[in-house]
Amino acid sequence: MAVTIREAVHDDWVEAGRICYEAFATLADEHGFPHDFPTVQAASDPIRWMIGHPDITGLVAESDGRVVGSLFMDRRGPIWAIGPISVDPTAQDRGVGRLLTQTAVDRWRAGGSPGVRLVQIAYHNRSISLYTRLGFDARGTLAAMHGEPVREEMPGYVVRPATPADAAACDALCFRVHGHTRPGEVREAIESGDGRVVEHLGRITGYTTRVNYFFHSVAESNDDMRALICAADGYGTPGFLVPIANHDLFRWCLEHGLRVFFLTTLMSIGLYQEPEGAWLPSVGY
Ligand SMILES: CC(C)(COP(=O)(O)OP(=O)(O)OC[C@H]1O[C@@H](n2cnc3c(N)ncnc32)[C@H](O)[C@@H]1OP(=O)(O)O)[C@@H](O)C(=O)NCCC(=O)NCCS
Repeated sequence: MAVTIREAVHDDWVEAGRICYEAFATLADEHGFPHDFPTVQAASDPIRWMIGHPDITGLVAESDGRVVGSLFMDRRGPIWAIGPISVDPTAQDRGVGRLLTQTAVDRWRAGGSPGVRLVQIAYHNRSISLYTRLGFDARGTLAAMHGEPVREEMPGYVVRPATPADAAACDALCFRVHGHTRPGEVREAIESGDGRVVEHLGRITGYTTRVNYFFHSVAESNDDMRALICAADGYGTPGFLVPIANHDLFRWCLEHGLRVFFLTTLMSIGLYQEPEGAWLPSVGY
């Protein structure tokens, strides 16, 4: 199958969105899992947004003039993130996913960023194998947690909307925990009104861009992170990601009625340091 890769343009969101929904739905059905994108619209809306974003690269694979897959690469911070990657179920297992991912990795290498990451669905033997062959190292398992919002009082931990004046403190905290910042996402969360910070003993000890699959959170301690989780109105589907190696926080989520939607794997090429603190990754990293 002759396949070419080109930059995504606005109108691609319709076909790329349909393919993204069908690729993930087919995969979930084959494994007896619920759909992570419950509708075509739930897959298409983020793709439409990503195609229009100046700091996100969209790649489209075409064969015989027909879109057969797409990949997005988020360049909002020093660490780049790949995803989602999806190939039309009728065109899978013929090298399209490999070509898309290799093209993105080549662009990352040429782009001067110190690291690139992605999160794959752990039950998918094909994607873990493909990404490992392309150079990604598995860094840890993440559980997507969903359910009714946890309502627990956290005396001494005050959660409030993040303001532009908090951005530098959020960047400094992220750097302390991860060794890199995520400035683009932090500023977008402040602008949208979704960003929250937690204050403890008079200083910022954690922040979230939203407690949700598509957003990330960083905190000094699990108590700071619990305060952010308890202040959220909802976690969406498939829920927020918790590194299961954080046994204490993962167990607390389960004890408070949250359920595991599925497990995923964080993978990286380039700069990676073990986080020192509490963190909830996004589906990017
Ligand atoms: C994941 C996905 C993008 C891959 O695209 P694709 O075009 O089907 O995959 P390719 O044919 O390019 O590559 C598949 C590779 O996995 C290998 N593979 C497949 N099953 C495997 C297994 N069980 N064990 C080891 N390797 C396996 C194939 O041999 C091939 O490797 P090769 O190129 O070295 O021969 C596509 O299957 C898809 O859209 N899946 C559903 C959505 C999804 O999971 N997206 C990824 C989210 S992170």
